[in-house]
Amino acid sequence: MIILGIESSCDETAAALLQDGRRILSSVVSSQIEIHREYGGVVPELASREHVENLAPVVSSCLRQAGCSLGDVDAVAATRGPGLMGALLAGMAYAKGLAYALQLPFLGVNHLEGHIASVFLDHPEAELPALSLVVSGGHTNLYLLDGQGKCRLLARTLDDAAGEALDKLAKLLGLGYPGGPAIDRLSASGDPDAVPFSLPKINDGSESFSFSGLKTAALRHVRQKGFQPFMPEDVEDPANLPGEALDLIASYQKAVVDQLLDRIFKFLPGREIRSVHFSGGVSCNSELRRTGRERLADLGLPAYFPRPELTTDNAVMIAAAADRRVRAGESDPWTLKADPNLRAGEAPIVSPSRSSTFPQGDSAAS
Ligand code: KG4
Ligand code: ZN
Repeated sequence: MIILGIESSCDETAAALLQDGRRILSSVVSSQIEIHREYGGVVPELASREHVENLAPVVSSCLRQAGCSLGDVDAVAATRGPGLMGALLAGMAYAKGLAYALQLPFLGVNHLEGHIASVFLDHPEAELPALSLVVSGGHTNLYLLDGQGKCRLLARTLDDAAGEALDKLAKLLGLGYPGGPAIDRLSASGDPDAVPFSLPKINDGSESFSFSGLKTAALRHVRQKGFQPFMPEDVEDPANLPGEALDLIASYQKAVVDQLLDRIFKFLPGREIRSVHFSGGVSCNSELRRTGRERLADLGLPAYFPRPELTTDNAVMIAAAADRRVRAGESDPWTLKADPNLRAGEAPIVSPSRSSTFPQGDSAAS
């Protein structure tokens, strides 16, 4: 069974063919980064227009790479939300049109459930119940995946997402957009303990995430040191940057990683957790991967990350998240609407055994 996945929630137009829920036949991601770079962030109107232009060529190239034709496709799944309204509409309308013309089932997929499902593509052995952290430019959500694969939100950010916080420091220092990869690379040359950033104090007593205090502290530090945005050519080589700037970058990255792990550790006691999962663009971060694995291994818990190319937005994860429902013979009506504020629902995302005898639940996409 082959699912064509389509992702267009933000600034990536992506298509993928996934066979039997596991085998990636092809995955194409057309990034709009170059278009949005000069604005230092995603411009929604530009993103929608780009998606409309890119969807057909991206799907064609995805079919070509897999050596497949549209006749081989058994279902079409597209991101339904959360994301930018215009961007979601472009992908949904295209996917519905294609499915309607081919008389195939259409499924609307929750982008967050896509990230959560991406972990299982390379780690089908991951045991449940699990804690699953979705950490990207738009989201910092910690979920409990119960023994049936159903997810429940435990904590989320009260302000910026972790990726957004990394992107903002990068913008301030002229490190490029998106900033996460540059911060990851440059941090290796700085001292992560040089600038003492503290964990946020959340007044409501919850264990939510918050990155706005960290951002303000970093801004103060940048002003104090008189750093101006660096030139793009200087950023390539850490030897061109002052040691104090590299120390700030490394310390800031460590503060983000420490907070992510701190919250996870707060939710471990008293729960029967078998594994901890990380997904979303920030889960590509080498410090998060290293420290996360190390600290969880101390507790005897495996930490699972998607392979790097499946951490940032892609369509393989959208097809993967649709797999269970397609197997169960489900589909969504043509009237299904895009939902920019969709939350990850109570629906099972994956089965512990990935078998088709998976308990049915309400669909987050219905
Ligand atoms: O999942 P994603 O592609 O899009 C959203 O759904 O937001 O995540 C993009 C985010 C950006 O904030 C980017 O800076 C961050 O992921 N990112 C990283 C790394 N690679 C991408 N952050 C830290 N380290 C990285 N290596
Ligand atoms: Zn995402």
